[in-house]
Amino acid sequence: MQMPEQQQIAVVTGAAGDFGREIVQRLLAEGFYVAATDIVEEKLKELPKYVDFSEKLGLFYMDVSSPESIQKTAEQIATVFGDSIVILVNNAGVFERTPILLKEHFDTVKKIMDINLLGCYYSTSIFSKFMIAKRYGRIINIASLAGTWGAAFGSAYAASKAGMIAASKSWARELGSFGVRVNAIAPGVCKTQMLEHSEKQNSFSAEQFLLNLVPVGRCGTAEDVAELVMFLATCKTDYLNGEVITLDGGLNIGTIETTQLS
Ligand SMILES: NC(=O)c1ccc[n+]([C@@H]2O[C@H](COP(=O)([O-])OP(=O)(O)OC[C@H]3O[C@@H](n4cnc5c(N)ncnc54)[C@H](O)[C@@H]3O)[C@@H](O)[C@H]2O)c1
Repeated sequence: MQMPEQQQIAVVTGAAGDFGREIVQRLLAEGFYVAATDIVEEKLKELPKYVDFSEKLGLFYMDVSSPESIQKTAEQIATVFGDSIVILVNNAGVFERTPILLKEHFDTVKKIMDINLLGCYYSTSIFSKFMIAKRYGRIINIASLAGTWGAAFGSAYAASKAGMIAASKSWARELGSFGVRVNAIAPGVCKTQMLEHSEKQNSFSAEQFLLNLVPVGRCGTAEDVAELVMFLATCKTDYLNGEVITLDGGLNIGTIETTQLS
């Protein structure tokens, strides 16, 4: 199945963040019109500084935890760029500590679910309608290794990402016959502000600890994630559907023994 001929529009949520900026840049370089959306308008306004081809870039305020905000933004995007929205990257996300023994964190648990899981749900529901109309679309959900591994003191984050993974597989089944493919990426430890923030909250260096366990010997980067997003957005086969691709330098395959052997 080929992409439709009209101008191709990609929507990226959380576009002003570390992964988002790089994903936007790569999609623009590939020739897509990119609707970069985020809840933090000041950060969003700085995005053109980081990218080339900014004539194809549109900046849109959008709160993924609000279906009304997403619907309004979808209409704005269609007015500015047209309705050929064929790519959706569900990238917006937050991490906060949520130790299970502290009930003071219940509000944080709800906030994480609202943004990470329900946000992905709402935006997929609203933007997939454009794709169904074109009988073509690629939805790429940025989950996390935490979604399959769990995360001590970060159970709400891990559960939200596990939910994204299960939802991706379900939507891959629901939307498959409409030409829409849904896949997820599960990054491991990446060198970003989110990692710095989580290290401060946990007051220990996850980077130092985990580096010894990653076979490729480094943390992931926003470039690594953007590269895989591009692959899922543009690969010629339409048979790749419902996959969760772990992007962690081999961390999840269990490296302690091999590291000790060398
Ligand atoms: N950084 C990592 O190591 C890592 C690892 C695995 C998965 N991830 C996931 O990758 C995604 C991007 O991570 P990042 O490191 O770029 O984080 P980041 O904090 O730099 O970017 C996240 C973006 O989401 C936006 N956002 C937050 N709440 C929002 C809302 N309600 N509506 C719209 N936008 C909202 C933020 O403003 C921010 O720009 C997240 O979903 C994260 O969970 C990150």
